[in-house]
Amino acid sequence: MNQNKKLWGGRFYKQAHPLFEKFNSSLYDDYFLAKYDILGSIAWSKSLLECNVLTISEQYQIEVALNKILKEVEKHPKIMLDTLSEDIHSWIEYKLISFVGDLGKKLHTGRSRNDQVTTSLKLWCKYITNKLIIYLQKVQYALILQAEISFKYIMPGYTHLQRAQPITFAYWCLAYVEMFKRDENRLQDSLLRLNISPLGSGALSGTYCNINRDILAFKLGFQNITKNSLDAVSDRDYVVELLSISSISMMHLSRFSEDLIFFNAGEVNFIELSDFVTSGSSLMPQKKNPDALELIRGKTGTVYGCLMNMLVLLKGLPLSYNKDMQEDKKILFSGIHTWIMCLKMAELVIQTVKVNTEVCLKSAKKGYANSTELTEYLVNKGVTFREAHFIVGKIVLAAINKQCSLEDLSLDFFQRYHSAFKDDLYNKLNLFTCINSKNAIGGVSFNQVLNHILEVKKTLYYD
Ligand code: ARG
Repeated sequence: MNQNKKLWGGRFYKQAHPLFEKFNSSLYDDYFLAKYDILGSIAWSKSLLECNVLTISEQYQIEVALNKILKEVEKHPKIMLDTLSEDIHSWIEYKLISFVGDLGKKLHTGRSRNDQVTTSLKLWCKYITNKLIIYLQKVQYALILQAEISFKYIMPGYTHLQRAQPITFAYWCLAYVEMFKRDENRLQDSLLRLNISPLGSGALSGTYCNINRDILAFKLGFQNITKNSLDAVSDRDYVVELLSISSISMMHLSRFSEDLIFFNAGEVNFIELSDFVTSGSSLMPQKKNPDALELIRGKTGTVYGCLMNMLVLLKGLPLSYNKDMQEDKKILFSGIHTWIMCLKMAELVIQTVKVNTEVCLKSAKKGYANSTELTEYLVNKGVTFREAHFIVGKIVLAAINKQCSLEDLSLDFFQRYHSAFKDDLYNKLNLFTCINSKNAIGGVSFNQVLNHILEVKKTLYYD
């Protein structure tokens, strides 16, 4: 069989130019769809049986041959790359013809590559979305394990990169669990739309075969069918949606990275990153660089780029299918592949990080992070909030000038600012008290953090 033979040769006098053939081919970008194209083709052959295009024995022969191709592809996923086929769909059709002869030429009855491409791409998106949910769960799980160890590790929480209020390392971990959980939820929501089958749309106006599209969709694991073929063959919203979920998640991953890069900076030294995820300098022997995290931060741009690329690709495209859309696979695959690598790396970083608890605690004590508690103390004694805020501001200023922390100041000193200050203020200033006073749901108290851990654990089916 001539693998170079086109699906559409009849209309042409001459062979295409080799330069164009190469330019036109998408095999390198869509070979990963092989399995899904075969599954789609098996389901389609059953519809052709239903509308009497194929006999039972013909359908059986086609199904057996397609399963053989599937086995071959599963064993050697890149086997088709040394052929000159235009794309994965043509390769599978020619391969089928090589197994069953002219019978294979019946498979494309009533079907177009336009609905075939989007069906296999949607099936792949469904598969990868379910995998991505697991990857996101794995990162959450690693963060939860870290939170369980570190729920008493006090450190400063920041706003404007200024020490603001004391938190714990566990609380920081759980903030990212929330973000990755939202990403996971977004993926779950997107499955609703991914579960709509375009197969049976034909080239753009539907199929002339008298088939039941609902049954066809159901056989492929879809829950519903598209209602307008012009839209169905042109729709790549699901690619944009997946890339936009990736981009939001990469934004979370890059903030996660930036926080850890800061915590790891020499002057801060809250954590030590493992040798597993760092590298040295070729010149400076003392260096241990947070490469994994910097790369996640950097690759965020790559994924945003893929989203932009896809949006620009589709902008202003007339209905219905246009060859521009062939570029979608390369863009999607690159974005998703990058996201997966970053998720795996984030998991490894958090699994292997060491928290320098003493340094964290010392830093939390230093930054007047308990000033809000002192304000609250005065408010509880009947002073108005604004006045209390002003008084505590003055005391903090005095402590800065004396280069000491609030708890180092004597009771006498406090009473110079307000007579309501009593000996019990020192308990209020204690960082553990500060932390545990935030005991409403969502707060940093040990209790709330432990509850949150239990709650999130229930949502993780990955263990
Ligand atoms: N490889 C192409 C793609 O991925 C196949 C679609 C070709 N369709 C067409 N009408 N020429 O988009």
